[in-house]
Amino acid sequence: MYETECTLCGRIKKHLQEIKNKYPGYHCKPVWGTGSLNSRICVFGLAPGLHGANKTGIPFTADFSGQLIREIIEELEIDEYFITNVVRCYPEKNLPLTAEKNNCQVYNFHELSRLQNLKVIIALGEVAYRQIIKLYDIKYNTHKFQHGNVLKLNEKIKLISSYHCSKLNINTHKINKRMLKKIFLRAIKLSYYG
Ligand code: URA
Repeated sequence: MYETECTLCGRIKKHLQEIKNKYPGYHCKPVWGTGSLNSRICVFGLAPGLHGANKTGIPFTADFSGQLIREIIEELEIDEYFITNVVRCYPEKNLPLTAEKNNCQVYNFHELSRLQNLKVIIALGEVAYRQIIKLYDIKYNTHKFQHGNVLKLNEKIKLISSYHCSKLNINTHKINKRMLKKIFLRAIKLSYYG
């Protein structure tokens, strides 16, 4: 979608080069969102997984959370969706710095602005939630993250919050497949009936 080079985050760029030296076949570059530009639903995760999207170059692939999400999408027969991450490069230990998260806001804005039929954003995890509400000038203090909550971002778009379906969150029973599926079902309903 863009030039694959992005030089905004020096620390990440350096780290990705180290990973590339170790795993020459890995993508190790920004992972841009993919899916239909006609989508009514857009899913935002945190950042590419080291051995998942960072390897393949496609969000939510080759890792645990990706498999779970794609299973649900298939079971619910969602044929048009856009999927991306609020941070587009694998950050060391999966922990992006505030500056790194903010650097990626320009891409969050750009990807969202291309989805002209967008009705619902699913934020997977609090980091994704915070980055999205910031884009719409909504303050966290008055609109805290809560799993299952629906927030009106503007006249057209609603944001539904979910715990992230990471392996850790699944293993600690913070979220399970049934809970996540319910979020996606809600998103489908909202995307058609508001
Ligand atoms: N894979 C992604 O692309 N993003 C996540 O947040 C987790 C796994």
